[in-house]
Amino acid sequence: MKTLVLASNNAHKLEEIRAILEGMYEVKSLKDIECFDDIPETGTTFAENALQKAQYIKEHYGYDCFADDSGLQVEALNNEPGVYSARYAVMNGREALPTKDEANMDLLLERLAEQENKKACFRTSIALVMGEEKHFFDGIVEGHIIPEKRGSEGFGYDPIFVPDGYDKTFAELGAEIKNGISHRARAMAKLVDFLNNL
Ligand code: IMP
Repeated sequence: MKTLVLASNNAHKLEEIRAILEGMYEVKSLKDIECFDDIPETGTTFAENALQKAQYIKEHYGYDCFADDSGLQVEALNNEPGVYSARYAVMNGREALPTKDEANMDLLLERLAEQENKKACFRTSIALVMGEEKHFFDGIVEGHIIPEKRGSEGFGYDPIFVPDGYDKTFAELGAEIKNGISHRARAMAKLVDFLNNL
């Protein structure tokens, strides 16, 4: 089986992606290739960040690699938190308490409380660096933010995001439904389609 590195150690992400690519590619994590570097992530778009990570692995470790960068964009907040989704609270001088995810959601709910427009979307960009080539795959899921956290599955902003066509949050819908409609699943489907047609 061919090997691709996913430039991440995120257990949720690896699990989702390995399930989708099962039988086609062995997907190695950064830990699997013994990369413990602090990979730069200084872009201002999801695609720039994804490419930066995938290119770093190709250059320093020689593996064909793909990387994804995702985040939440909230329309009424000028598409915040965007590429800063993971660091939103800390970047705004908050402590990551009780967890980083809780602090991020609390700040977002505070900022959105006065706004009528609750529209939001999750976006993913995947960059694939294969040999000399670079390819990009994007995925989006639209929905809205609810004022309280609901559900216990998933991660990140899942407890406050309700995808269009549903009345439950990603954290209530669970992995099976989320993996069918998520931004990451949609971007991954495009990547898989591309790999299948090579
Ligand atoms: P990453 O680029 O996939 O690591 O995502 C960056 C940040 O965006 C995460 O730390 C989360 O805060 C948020 N995020 C990305 N994807 C999701 C998701 O599927 N559910 C909830 N939050 C997400």
